[in-house]
Amino acid sequence: MNYPVWDVPIIGSGWVIGIIAILHTLISQFAVGGGLYLALAEHKALKDGRDDWFPMLRRHSKFFLILTGVFGAVSGVGIWFAIGLANPESTSTLIHNFVFGWAMEWVFFIIELTAAAVYYYTWGKIPNKLHNQVGWLYAVSSFLTLVIINGILTFMLTPGDAWIEVAGTGAESSRFWQAFFNPTYFPSLFLRILVCISLAGIWALLSYSRMNEDPQTKAEMITWSSKWLIPSFVLMPFFFAWYLASVPEVNRQLLQLGISTIGSGAFTQVTRIALIVVMTTATIVGIVYFFVRMAPEDFSFGHGVAVLLLAAVATSATEYAREMLRKPYTIARHMYSNGIRQASVARLNEEGYLTKSHWTRRVAGDAQTPEAILAKGEAMFRGQCLACHTETGYRAMKKYLKGRNNESIANLMKTLRDYKPDSPYRAYMPQLVGKPDEIAALADYLDYRVNGKESRLAQLMKTREEGEKVVEAR
Ligand code: HEC
Repeated sequence: MNYPVWDVPIIGSGWVIGIIAILHTLISQFAVGGGLYLALAEHKALKDGRDDWFPMLRRHSKFFLILTGVFGAVSGVGIWFAIGLANPESTSTLIHNFVFGWAMEWVFFIIELTAAAVYYYTWGKIPNKLHNQVGWLYAVSSFLTLVIINGILTFMLTPGDAWIEVAGTGAESSRFWQAFFNPTYFPSLFLRILVCISLAGIWALLSYSRMNEDPQTKAEMITWSSKWLIPSFVLMPFFFAWYLASVPEVNRQLLQLGISTIGSGAFTQVTRIALIVVMTTATIVGIVYFFVRMAPEDFSFGHGVAVLLLAAVATSATEYAREMLRKPYTIARHMYSNGIRQASVARLNEEGYLTKSHWTRRVAGDAQTPEAILAKGEAMFRGQCLACHTETGYRAMKKYLKGRNNESIANLMKTLRDYKPDSPYRAYMPQLVGKPDEIAALADYLDYRVNGKESRLAQLMKTREEGEKVVEAR
């Protein structure tokens, strides 16, 4: 463990990333789809001589600029803060491996943000055609940011054999392109493009719902925007099937197992999520078509918010599913969520986990006092479990271990350490590493936190105090 551990009580550090990421995804994918939307809408208005579209497009582009330029950019930086704190080791790997990827990404960001500002501030001030070209410049550069980030995001789930071969040797960057155009790159890119296009329509609906100057134009533009949801509705199932065909067998099994055991067991989460996505998407399409077809001019802010919230639920569900699929890794087959490299497991078992952890409170060597054992166990827990669990909140240890005594907890830790090929825990938990005394300390620590006075260490402390009292009484 080369970094300090970020302890976020109740929700856990993962959810801090999750909450920011959901917000960021909703906005940044709009930033990509919305660019195409503005350029195409303006193009259409110019071609058809629809001057009445311009005032609404202009107001929409202001909304767009503020939302993507301020909230999109800030939440993007927020993700960097959160992942840097929660998963420093993985963040470092991504940075090192994709240095030039990030560099390209930021170049396109700068072009994108500049173009968005120029676009809004030059409405009516430069020739129409040139203005539309600025819109296209924005659309292309923001699309390229998606093209790049998609390579890095999909890499984490499917780094590909070529990269795994050299992982940890220092030659990783020689496999930059193989890692970038990894097995899920293209299906995932197409899925994201579809989402970007529908988000462009959804945010436009929300934006127009508050404009009431010209009911006729509003009705037309609402109807036109609603069509942006069609590509997703039609093509999503095909691209999703392609995506599933590209993920490794183990991940696919996780989903299939879920489908066959709906309603019970830990694995069905992924399946329930798939159901949520299907249902919310269908509801969105239902609402949009029902209201748009019946009375587009009456499409209210409330309707717009409802559609956006449903889209937020679908986004949250898919991001969560992606996260679940990747467990127990942040970089599949290479780095576990707690920052331990799969390749270092044997060495850490031999040399000890805490001997290599530079940020734990100094744990007194081999002392066998209850306090020393507790400190050692706590350091193990923080280093290896806190990335996914909390003590009393999300995935709480107190909940999972309730009813287990010291021996039973110790057995469970042994199972996690042995990590047999048929262990069910392999699907979502990393291998527990450390020397036997470290593993025992972890079990004692968990026992102490869960069972309090009844725990082995509490009993030891009690007998020791009683012993001291006897000595004092003499
Ligand atoms: C990669 C994330 C991750 C890490 C790291 C992790 N776990 Fe888990 N753990 C999970 C998930 C996911 C579940 C299943 C949650 C559910 O069923 O809702 C789980 C379940 C459990 C359970 C309940 C198992 C059962 O049979 O009911 C225990 C106990 C547990 N973890 C202990 C630990 C301990 C101790 C550590 C540290 C050595 C640890 N976990 C590290 C993700 C993780």
